[in-house]
Amino acid sequence: MKSAATGSVPLLVISFFAGMWTTGVYYNYYREAASEGIPEPQRKWRHSEAQIRRQQGLDIWARRNHSYHDVTKVLYNRLPKCGSNTMKVLIRELKNRNRFQFFEDKEYGMKALPEKLLRQFVQMVDKLPRPSIYEKHIYYVDFQTFGKQQPTYINLVRDPLERRISGYYYMRFGRIEGNQKEKRTEEERAQTFDDCVLNNMWECDEFGPKTFTMTQFFCGQESICMEPSQMAVERAKENIRRHYAVVGVLEEFSSFLKVLEVVMPQFFRGAHDTWRETESKQMEHQKTAIKIPPSEKSREIMRQRLHVDYQVYDFIKERFHMQKTQLGIKD
Ligand SMILES: *[C@@H]1O[C@H](CO)[C@@H](O)[C@H](O)[C@H]1NC(C)=O
Repeated sequence: MKSAATGSVPLLVISFFAGMWTTGVYYNYYREAASEGIPEPQRKWRHSEAQIRRQQGLDIWARRNHSYHDVTKVLYNRLPKCGSNTMKVLIRELKNRNRFQFFEDKEYGMKALPEKLLRQFVQMVDKLPRPSIYEKHIYYVDFQTFGKQQPTYINLVRDPLERRISGYYYMRFGRIEGNQKEKRTEEERAQTFDDCVLNNMWECDEFGPKTFTMTQFFCGQESICMEPSQMAVERAKENIRRHYAVVGVLEEFSSFLKVLEVVMPQFFRGAHDTWRETESKQMEHQKTAIKIPPSEKSREIMRQRLHVDYQVYDFIKERFHMQKTQLGIKD
């Protein structure tokens, strides 16, 4: 027994490195991570992204010229805790100025719809007057499967970890102004994000549904989107490529608006200036009331748990940066 075990160890080591060498994984992984100066925890996700980028080239646009001037219906399937309330306030300002209608869906909580409701949703959105923007917290909907014309999608995301931290405290303390709901017990409210992560509480659990929310929003209504998997990630990316004119990142909100203005002026002309005028008033009120900064250790653990969403986020960020470059937008 003993000699067999010790004999198999070197063999295992050799075959491991041989495998790494032949696929080039080991080499590329470190070369890319080093050249891009990415901090340790994110390396492996960036690596796979870089590989996919090489395989598929830069052809990730439905319209290479980023011109959506002819679009008359936009669907903003907004993610929670990604600045979408600020966006709503802004679109309300813009609708009079740019003469379009803005439909705000008041129903929350139904992000995946059963077949019958999905069909009704598609028919309802299809019948809305144009030009219009429709917003709802809903997973991507494929209108074509119901024989209807697909609206043009937009969305706004943020770093998955920051989104989770914001969501965690929002559930406890609400916003700075208004909406101060008691959503948790006293005991739960006292738990910090660190407690949650380090004790594997359900809200921060590795296998919890919240570890791939971003992926679900772009993946859609199908059953493959209900479990975290590489297939769900790929489907999400494919939908972004084909159906989203712009997906911005909250960390670069100002340039998100500038991109929208260029890509769809019929809706977003003046968006940047309008936001500047009202930003001091709005954004403060929309912030989550209390946020206790988590330790680096729990941030690290949570980044690993959110690795599915980070794949989609990194893709979105890279695509957004490319779009900015192509449109000559700097900040
Ligand atoms: C941009 O490309 C689309 C098709 O991808 C085309 O319909 C449209 O006319 C083009 N717009 C401009 C301004 O070139």
